[in-house]
Amino acid sequence: MMLTHAQAIWKGFHWSFFLNVQGLIICLNRFEERLNQGQLDEANTELQTATVLMRASGASMELAGSFERDRYETEVRTSMKPPQVQSDNFSGLMSWEHAALMKIWKRLQPLFANLPEALTEQHQAFVQAYMTLARSHRAVCDKFGGSDGGSLRFERSGAVETLDKFGQSRLGLIDPCKTVSEDTRLTDQSGPAHAEHSVLES
Ligand code: HEM
Repeated sequence: MMLTHAQAIWKGFHWSFFLNVQGLIICLNRFEERLNQGQLDEANTELQTATVLMRASGASMELAGSFERDRYETEVRTSMKPPQVQSDNFSGLMSWEHAALMKIWKRLQPLFANLPEALTEQHQAFVQAYMTLARSHRAVCDKFGGSDGGSLRFERSGAVETLDKFGQSRLGLIDPCKTVSEDTRLTDQSGPAHAEHSVLES
């Protein structure tokens, strides 16, 4: 089937997003192994790569939304509803990548709560990278009307509001001791992650 310009951007950058998340899953599994073996330098390197992949996921998300709002309503949102897809509550939550990432984040939570000093700096950068990703998700959702309406899955509550709740709960997994300052909260209204050259302003 021929895709419109907006559908091609949406689909292409979703591939890029999920590839980055797949890399993140591999990296965090390696991080866990190294940490459990007491190989702190190697664990730090894995966490550093995971941080880069998280930022790349956020950038892919922003790029997935780099077209006009009316195109989202007429061409993109409709492509995620039946009969184009089988489910009437289509969501990012359905991807296997999401399930695998949440599984490893839950396993890592006690490790993140007791990290050796040598890893704390890189851990903070990792948490900040997640906040960047969450802000990008929020910004793209807001651009496409998520402050007024629900997601395909939860029609009844505001999509941006739902995302904020998800963001806080994910943050509790990777930063259980709240080491990263409250000034950089997810609901910060200062705009998307890469505000200076954000594609969301188009
Ligand atoms: C730009 C590309 C997008 C990607 C790659 C993406 C991906 C995802 C993923 C992986 C999740 C699971 C989140 C988690 O566990 O923390 C999710 C959930 C969610 N996303 Fe997105 N998303 C995108 C765009 C949007 C947009 C435009 C909106 C709003 C209009 C939105 C609203 C939501 C909401 C409300 C949830 C929570 C579950 C639900 O209601 O479906 N997302 N998304």
